[in-house]
Amino acid sequence: MQQHRRRNGSFVRPAQRLVKTAFALIILAAAAAAQTPKIAATPPMGWNSWNHFACKVSDAVVRAAADAIASNGMKQAGYVYVNIDDCWQGHRDAKGMIQPNERFPDMKKLGDYIHSKGLKFGIYSSPGPKTCAGYEGSYQHETEDAQQYANWGIDYLKYDWCSAERVYKPEQMPEVYKKMHDALAATGRPIVFSLCEYGLRSVWHWGASIGGNSWRTTDDISDNWNSMSAIGFAQNGLEGFAGPGHWNDPDMLEVGNGKMDHDEYVTHMSLWCLLSAPLLAGNDLARMTPETLAILTDPEIIALDQDTRGAQAHRIWEEGPYEVWVKPLADGSTAVGLFNRGEDTEKVTVKLQQIGMLGSVSVRDLWAKKDLGKFSGTFSADVPRHGVVVVKIRQG
Ligand code: GLA
Repeated sequence: MQQHRRRNGSFVRPAQRLVKTAFALIILAAAAAAQTPKIAATPPMGWNSWNHFACKVSDAVVRAAADAIASNGMKQAGYVYVNIDDCWQGHRDAKGMIQPNERFPDMKKLGDYIHSKGLKFGIYSSPGPKTCAGYEGSYQHETEDAQQYANWGIDYLKYDWCSAERVYKPEQMPEVYKKMHDALAATGRPIVFSLCEYGLRSVWHWGASIGGNSWRTTDDISDNWNSMSAIGFAQNGLEGFAGPGHWNDPDMLEVGNGKMDHDEYVTHMSLWCLLSAPLLAGNDLARMTPETLAILTDPEIIALDQDTRGAQAHRIWEEGPYEVWVKPLADGSTAVGLFNRGEDTEKVTVKLQQIGMLGSVSVRDLWAKKDLGKFSGTFSADVPRHGVVVVKIRQG
């Protein structure tokens, strides 16, 4: 039998080598699994009640959203969290346990319903005495609230600073958020922890270290071009802070809420996916147009957001209202967004050298679902007003 001589002079047979190699591979796989975060390994996807329903949220509204996600293709596209935002809270019982208000007769049953559809259940609170809409917050009740959420089967908590500014000093923010993180962890239930403090105290520097899975980087979005574009295009520079398990959050989607046109919503969705942002639809899912559903569920655009490398896009070029953003992908290709923030259709060009590609490249238009062929030197596209062309470029 052939034997292989080791450097130290001993011999090892091929079969033994095989076992050793297999063993080493198992150890490597276990180490990789240990490094992959269990929750929010890719940006969380789902729906949140606030942008469309604000305080008009109810058990029926949330069930309708869950029904829609489970039946309209959104679940298959990756949307899983069904999140109640502000305005669900009632009073605390004699033991200090928070109870829902009359719009939510039974949170446990609602959670069971959402879970029965293969979806997950999210909720909202504040570290302050009151939420932003004036409902009961978690101040001095963090442990009871985390326990109650676990009792109800909660899988996601958005924790919104609001009135905490009245009871804490700004520099206490990390410890205040950590307190709720630790209370959630103590329940033993995996719960996505979403920090909402509007980007104060450069949260991207410390959000992950206190257990945050995402953190808002800005003030609230609203359903118009100026708000959405001001927020989205201001994310450049934060790309170093996002990655598997911990994401920058430029706020929830407004796609389909009615105050932007088709190209503007396509820009919104494209930019959020390039930015590896959490994708929380914020429209009325039970009543949306096929056009809105198509934007929200486009598989090739969502694949950018959910790319396992988790690299957030950054801007490599801008001139006036024209911008080029790039996102390196796990398979070695690069996603490129050619944006036109101006008022007329314009040709926007990316220099391939700027994205580290020399020689011939292949280009695919992701929204058009079209391979555009080979290019070298530059790639240009005509981009409509307030629109974008998103391409995937690979060497060769
Ligand atoms: C803040 C948050 C919003 C929403 C409201 C609810 O403004 O930033 O996303 O949660 O509170 O009151």
